[in-house]
Amino acid sequence: MTGAVGPDPDPDQVPAAWSSVVDAVCDPERFVSASFSGARRGTRTAAEKVTVRPVELRTGRHLQVSTFDGRSTDVSNVAVDRAPTVVLELLSSGYATAYVKTLDGDLQLQHSRKGVPRIVRHRASTDEIDTSHDRAKPRLVEPDAPFLRAVGITDQRGVVKPSASAKYRQVERFVEILDHTLASVSDGAGHTAPVRAVDLGCGSGVLTLATHHHLSRIAPGSTMIGVDTKADLVAGLSATVTTLGWRDIEFRTGTIDGFEPDEPPDLVLALHACDTATDDALARAIRWRTRVVLAAPCCQHHLQAQLDRHHVPDGFEPMFRHGIVRERLGDLLTDTVRAEILRAHGYRTDVIEFVSTEHTAKNLMIRAVLVDEPDPDTLSAAAAAAERLAAVWGVRPALIERLDAGGRAGGS
Ligand SMILES: C[S@@+](CC[C@H](N)C(=O)[O-])C[C@H]1O[C@@H](n2cnc3c(N)ncnc32)[C@H](O)[C@@H]1O
Repeated sequence: MTGAVGPDPDPDQVPAAWSSVVDAVCDPERFVSASFSGARRGTRTAAEKVTVRPVELRTGRHLQVSTFDGRSTDVSNVAVDRAPTVVLELLSSGYATAYVKTLDGDLQLQHSRKGVPRIVRHRASTDEIDTSHDRAKPRLVEPDAPFLRAVGITDQRGVVKPSASAKYRQVERFVEILDHTLASVSDGAGHTAPVRAVDLGCGSGVLTLATHHHLSRIAPGSTMIGVDTKADLVAGLSATVTTLGWRDIEFRTGTIDGFEPDEPPDLVLALHACDTATDDALARAIRWRTRVVLAAPCCQHHLQAQLDRHHVPDGFEPMFRHGIVRERLGDLLTDTVRAEILRAHGYRTDVIEFVSTEHTAKNLMIRAVLVDEPDPDTLSAAAAAAERLAAVWGVRPALIERLDAGGRAGGS
């Protein structure tokens, strides 16, 4: 359930900071909720985030443990007397941060790069304990949000049109990923500072609007700029946000490469931007030292065209026999190199499924979060891995080219 491995932790070996977390979770009168996220250096946790809260069942008080694996949430209830074991299992399994809310105050557990835990205390962020069992999961984007009507996803009554249900699911899924990613860079209590966001290759702008809608709720004062080469789409979106009465959002006609924000953005989106437009966006984000990057690559023609049947690593020849396999190989190679290059520039990077393949084959998302103090060995290993992959396949990925034009491919 918690993704822990190995035997129960020895209570005599438990660091004092961990014991503070255990004590806070085990206090039936004061404990509100706890969340565990991030991975300590050199560990990989089984889930992206685990939250724990008390819940009142017919059989008495339990702890509800919700485990989010990046796609879906698995919920289980455990007896309160197992709370110490559950918490110690979670901490032993490698989570870097725990944030515990209690009525007396909040505790934030952090681990240094060397794995040393310490507690930071904050004022209480809540004054009530919610133990209801069927707490309705709040929707991140309610169907009656006016922007959904403006883009034709919902009708006048705020009901999702049958023809737009897949698009609505994509919006919800995207905002869920955005929300979790920003939570991982928030202050732990869920307070996110205003975000300067840009959406490069925003197209018809549904996800741009959804992002701004969400940011203005979780981080008031956030700004958004959507960029696209298509002047008609930009004009339409500018009219839409005027109608919605939204400020702090604008759309500009132009190329990703030529876009110059007044200040470097904190969040870069590049969602299904065509072919090497994704590389343009990633190269800009790396140069801007953008904190969070969400990129859903589209067609990867640039590298596919370079794959040459006369330059195939030994044993991989059959992958050139079938057009579709060769094409997918090009896609995966492109995105793997992109992910490694982001790592080489100090980003914690993962590749996740964006929307189900049932809706689109273009369903990968590269998610990258800038690490505060990246490990220099990781940077150089990732830069070397990207260069090696390119060399083995005899290709020159566009992102390496873009970064080479202004410096090295990796290892900042
Ligand atoms: C497939 S659409 C995706 C739109 C939107 N991001 C989404 O996910 O729904 C790709 C958009 O990227 C734009 N685009 C492609 N290359 C671009 C570039 N170099 N600079 C700016 N926009 C670009 C296209 O005009 C198009 O509107």
